Amino acid sequence: MNPPGRGRLIALEGIDGCGKSTQARLLADSLDALLTFEPGATQLGKAVRRLALDATLAEPVPRAEALLMAADRAQHVDEVIRPALASGRWVVTDRYSGSTLAYQGAGRGLGIDDLRPVVDWAVAGVDPDLSVLLDVAVSTARLRLAEVSPDRLEQLDDGFHERVRSGFLTVARQAGASWVVVDGSGNADDVSAEIIRAVEDRLGRPIPPPSERLLPHV
Ligand code: TYD
Repeated sequence: MNPPGRGRLIALEGIDGCGKSTQARLLADSLDALLTFEPGATQLGKAVRRLALDATLAEPVPRAEALLMAADRAQHVDEVIRPALASGRWVVTDRYSGSTLAYQGAGRGLGIDDLRPVVDWAVAGVDPDLSVLLDVAVSTARLRLAEVSPDRLEQLDDGFHERVRSGFLTVARQAGASWVVVDGSGNADDVSAEIIRAVEDRLGRPIPPPSERLLPHV
C-alpha cells in the first residue's frame, strides 16, 4: 500500500517504434506529472546509455547490458523518481523495469524469471503503481521508426523485436492488475485517450496541492 501523500509512478513500456515517447508526454501533460525516461535521465545515466547503446562502441555482453540498464535505473530512482514521489508528485517514466525484463530477459535470452531479482534489487522497492504496455506489431513499429542513426538494439533483426514484444506480453500477463495492455496501432489521440482512461480507472487523478485547491475557478 502506498504511504499517504506519496505520488504515483506510471511506466510506459513497449517495443521501439510503438509510440511510447509521444504517449508518455501526452499522459504526463494530462496528469501534470513529472515526465522522465530511461536510459539516460541522470548524468551517470547519460554515460551508461552511451555504453549500452552507442553502436560505435564495443558491444556489452548481454549480462553486462542488463546490469548497465539496472545501474541507470538505480541512479534514476534515487536521484529523480523517489524524491518526486515523496513530494507528492506523480511521475510518468518512458520505460522502466519491464524494458529490462523484455529486452534483456526475452530479447537477449537471459530469461525473464532469472532477471527479476536483479531488476527488483535495482529499484529498491520503487515499483510502478501502473505499467502501460503499448502493444503494436513489429511490422507497424518498423514503419514508424524513421531513425537516421538507429542505436545498437534498433539495428537488431525482427526476430529479436518479436521476442521483446512477446516478452512484454508475458510480463504484463504475469503481473495482472499492475499492468494494462493498450493497442497502440490507432492514431495518437485515440491511443492517448485510452491510456488516460485506463490510468484514471486504476489510479484516479492527482489531487492538487491545497494552495491550488483554494484558487477560485475562473
Ligand atoms: P528509448 O530511449 O526508448 O529509445 P529511443 O531513444 O530510440 O526512442 O530506448 C533506447 C533503447 O534501450 C531501446 O532500444 C530499448 C533499450 N532498453 C533496454 O534494452 N533495456 C532497458 O532496460 C531499457 C530501459 C531500454
